[in-house]
Formats: sequence, structure tokens, C-alpha cells
Amino acid sequence: MKPVKVGLLGLGTVGTGVVRIVVGNQEHLSSQVGSPIIIERIAVKNSEKARDIDVDASKITTDPWEVIRDPEIDVIVEVMGGINGTKEYILEALDRGKHIITANKDLMALYGSEILAKAQEKQCDVFYEASVAGGIPIIRTLIEGFSSDRITKIMGIVNGTTNYILTKMSQEGATYSDALREAQDLGYAESDPTSDVEGLDAARKMTILGTLGFRTNVELQDVTVQGISGVSKEDIAFAKRLGYEMKLLGIAECKDEEFNISVQPTMIRSGHPIASVNGVFNAVYVYGEAVGETMFYGAGAGAMPTATSIVADLVAVIKNLKLGVNGLKQIVPYKTKKIKSDEDIYYKNFLLLHVDDKAGVLAKITQVFAEYDVSLDSVVQQANPNNPNAEIIIVTHNASKASMDKVLRHFEDLNVIRRVKSHYRVEG
Ligand code: NDP
Ligand code: HSE
Repeated sequence: MKPVKVGLLGLGTVGTGVVRIVVGNQEHLSSQVGSPIIIERIAVKNSEKARDIDVDASKITTDPWEVIRDPEIDVIVEVMGGINGTKEYILEALDRGKHIITANKDLMALYGSEILAKAQEKQCDVFYEASVAGGIPIIRTLIEGFSSDRITKIMGIVNGTTNYILTKMSQEGATYSDALREAQDLGYAESDPTSDVEGLDAARKMTILGTLGFRTNVELQDVTVQGISGVSKEDIAFAKRLGYEMKLLGIAECKDEEFNISVQPTMIRSGHPIASVNGVFNAVYVYGEAVGETMFYGAGAGAMPTATSIVADLVAVIKNLKLGVNGLKQIVPYKTKKIKSDEDIYYKNFLLLHVDDKAGVLAKITQVFAEYDVSLDSVVQQANPNNPNAEIIIVTHNASKASMDKVLRHFEDLNVIRRVKSHYRVEG
């Protein structure tokens, strides 16, 4: 049996996990695909770096082109990250007829359609299961498991780093910066963790999920994004008092062929299954017209869960190789893109206002909500010994995003409001 030879771009957190699984599970893997799998070459940035895995030094190169251009290599596993340079490597590898497996959501969210088109032209596979929600097989589920249904909503925690941070702040009173440092030490965060904490990583993943779920060409700029860097311990405590957990949620909805996608810190009702997803775990809720509610749960980051998805993709590529059917399973978005207007996007809102502590303030505030047709679910005023202003906590009923934006703009000119301290979407 001729071995299948793999070129690995990157031997960091995820790449190390891939080598461990390919070597450690060799018998299990080769029995499924009918031939041994060999990691033939590995590209790294620094060949002198100490690594916590033994690999034959002769396989290591600091030049990814050596891996891409090696005629012996059938499949490239890209786990080095990066966008523009990495895209060139992948396109060249496809030109040379090599199949691609990548964990790179940054690349797939921005250039997925170009890469997949090239793959189709060259009859190559490009699989990217690990790019969204680490060890959860959500991409395969959307492509295959729900191929018969029409998806109306995808809602999830799709970033492990931020869920780890929010969990530590909520359950252990950790500071934001300590929790972030731990997430970095555990290998969950991106090389620049700004993309985790500012929501960009989750937005890229939601771009991918939206494209697959709604069968339309979702682009990163279609996703509204807000990260967790502004979330305070006080906000988390308010959420708990009202019966909610604070989570960074990606929410993609599609109705009447129009979609909207957002990523934002959200207060989710404590009884909702997503509210109890903690630490590095991710969960993705998928609602289909026929299937109803489904939920997928698992580790969203880390070496071994992510490598599990990558090696499963590798098995799929090799099975296709044996059958001679590579390049046939790409999803081609076929629906015209229609984005919902803010008038048609509805959700509940939480607001914490710092206001003058004097008569008539509440009336002026509720008047503004009435003016824009936003109905209120609850209003609580409280004194805070640490705050000379009064604090008003408001939860609205479902209100259109357009109306809420008008309310918030009006508040800027309302002299009794000192500050809109917090504003969050509420779900569940
Ligand atoms: P790391 O930073 O741990 O590893 C990156 C690897 O790529 C390192 O081995 C590095 O070399 C190598 N590398 C970087 N740039 C180059 C270059 N120009 N030429 C050659 N080698 C290079 O990243 P991760 O393993 O955490 O992530 C890899 C990819 O997987 C990213 O796209 C990430 O978004 C994605 N991902 C990560 C997850 C996680 O839990 N960490 C989960 C899901 C996806 P050297 O070792 O010498 O520095
Ligand atoms: N930084 C990412 C996260 C890695 O924390 O979810 C997994 O994609």
C-alpha cells in the first residue's frame, strides 16, 4: 500500500496535536483509509525552537515553498495561520493538484470563495472543519447533516478564549487580563489575541457558518461585531442578578431569504443550554425549518480537539483520493445575497443608565422609549453608594435595532442622562 504523504505548514499548538494524532493513531487511521499516512515535511518559522514533540529534524524546513513544491506530497495541512502569504501557498498547492486542510478561519472567511473556486477547477478537496468551533464537527453537520433542511438560525459561542475569560470573571472573580493571559498560556488565543477579544475571530467563524447554513455568499463586512473588552465585572454581576449569563454570542438569522449576522456580548437566560457552556467549550445551536432545534457542544480550541477535526478531514480527503472523487463536495452558495435592514432585526435589550437623582427623570426616559415605539419589560432604579448618580436598569421587550439606535441617539441629548453605562442584547 503506497503511503499518503502529508506536508504540514506549522508545528505550534495545533500542528503538534496533528502530529500526535497521526503518529499515535496510525493503525486506526490507516485501517480506515487503506494506506499508511506519513508526515513528510514540516514548515516552521524557527527551526531552532525547542518543541515538546520529537520530530525527525530532516523533515523540518523554514521555507513553506519547499513543502508546497515537493512532488511527493499529496495533501497540505495548513496550521500556521496568517492571511496573504498563506493564501499564496494554498493557491499554489492547489495549482499543483494538492488537497488542502486548514484551520485558518481568517483566510477562509476572507478568501474562502476564491480558494474553493480554485479547488473546484483543480478537482481538489479543501476541508476546513477545524476553522470553526475547534473539535465540534459543525461544518460537516451543516454541509451534510442538514443538506435536506432550510436553516433559519445559527446561534453560538464560537470563540473559546472569550468564553474562558467570561467564565473566569463570572465564576472566580478573575480579572480580564489574568484570564486572558491564562487562555494564551493554554494555547487557546490567536497569536494576536485582539481578534479574539474584539470579536473578529468569532465574526470570521460566523461568516463561514452563515455561508454554509444560508447557502449565500456571506462576507465578513456583513457581520456586525462587538467584542468583550468593554464588559466589566459589574455588568456580569447585573446579568446574574437578573437571571442571565454574559456570553459572546454569534447570532445568524435568516427569514424570507434575508439574513443578518452579529457577534456581541449577550445576556442569555440562565436556563438556556448555551448559558451553561463554560471555559473553552463552544456550543452551536442550529434551528432548521424541518428539524427544529439542535445543539452541538465541545471544546472550541486547544491542540487535541482542533487536531481531531483536522485529522478527520485528512481521513476524508484520503478516502476521496481512493475513490477518485476529490473536489466534488464543495458547497457553492446559490442564493442571491439579501441583508435584513435594521427595521427588521428584533431583540430585547438591557440598559444600565447613570442619571440625575431627581424628580421626573424616569418619566423623561420612558417618554423617549415610547416615542420610538420600544416597549419596556422591566425598569428598576437603585442607589449605589459608590455612584453619586442614580442607576436605572431597563430591559426592553423585543425592539427593532433601528428603534433602539434612535433611542440611544436621543439619550445623547437628554440632559438628565449622565451616561449610558452598558447596553447589551438579551436572548432566551
Ligand atoms: P501557533 O502560533 O501555536 O503555531 C503556528 C505555527 O506556524 C508555528 O509552528 C510557527 O513556527 C509556524 N509559522 C508561523 N508563521 C510561519 C511562516 N511564515 N513560515 C513557516 N512557519 C510559520 O498557532 P496555532 O497552532 O494556535 O494556530 C494555527 C492555526 O490554527 C491558526 O490559523 C489558528 O487560527 C488556527 N486555530 C487554532 C486553534 C487553537 O486552539 N490554537 C483552534 C482552531 C484553529 P514556529 O513554531 O517556529 O514559531
Ligand atoms: N482563538 C480561537 C478561540 C481558537 O479561542 O476560539 C479556535 O478557533
